[in-house]
Amino acid sequence: MDFKEKIDKNNLPEHIAIIMDGNGRWAKKKGNQRIFGHKNGVKAVRDVVEGAGEIGVKYLTLYAFSTENWNRPKQEIDALMGLLVSTIDSETDTLIKNNVRLMTIGDTEGLPKNVGIKLKKLIEKTSQNKGLTLILALNYSARWEILNAVKNIIKDNKSTEIDESKISNDFFESYLNTKDIPDPDLLIRTSGEYRISNFLIWQIAYSELYFTDVLWPDYRKPDLFEAILDYQKRERRFGKISEQINS
Ligand code: FPP
Repeated sequence: MDFKEKIDKNNLPEHIAIIMDGNGRWAKKKGNQRIFGHKNGVKAVRDVVEGAGEIGVKYLTLYAFSTENWNRPKQEIDALMGLLVSTIDSETDTLIKNNVRLMTIGDTEGLPKNVGIKLKKLIEKTSQNKGLTLILALNYSARWEILNAVKNIIKDNKSTEIDESKISNDFFESYLNTKDIPDPDLLIRTSGEYRISNFLIWQIAYSELYFTDVLWPDYRKPDLFEAILDYQKRERRFGKISEQINS
């Protein structure tokens, strides 16, 4: 039996978040430029989005470009932005056909204008889709998101002194980019690195973490299904004890 058949459909992670890593190393191993790795990373994105949709995952968040990625060589940044635009163009019909709703998190205002316009259009076009919600983290970092939330709370409460009892988890979350999106149940990082890299720090408080040595351009549906099977073996206790969970 393959990984997919073994998955218990009644215990699916509702939200999977992925730190796609290893594009550069994959390309280098093949004696190629880093951008060759990113181009092949798009194939992995396509396969994983399809796989997540097939088994009924509701939300898939992909860390595509962090606020720190602006520090990479300009040539690589330009190529990544170009890839984003060409992927939006080539995948629009498939996303619509497969009922995928596209969303973004991150400071998309800070992206090149043409990228922002393309994204906005596709987000609008897919906004009524009811299948998988694909969330691209673009110009995103968790510290930026948290500071931005604090700034907006202050802005919204300029005229009145804010009552500190109002600052609950729910209240704070309503200021995050991920408001209305459930926290990830499973966070996957590829390429054998064991870091969170400023990704969804608030939201992964109780996520199950899964690390694999597979480099992102090689990542395919069976790898995703294997991670889900591993997730299904875990006991999520949310601070409670095992007996409380099982009673
Ligand atoms: C990490 O590998 C990958 C990225 C920073 C970019 C991810 C982008 C893509 C997969 C392509 C475009 C995405 C979409 C959604 C169209 P790395 O470059 O850090 O690899 P390294 O650690 O081996 O250097």
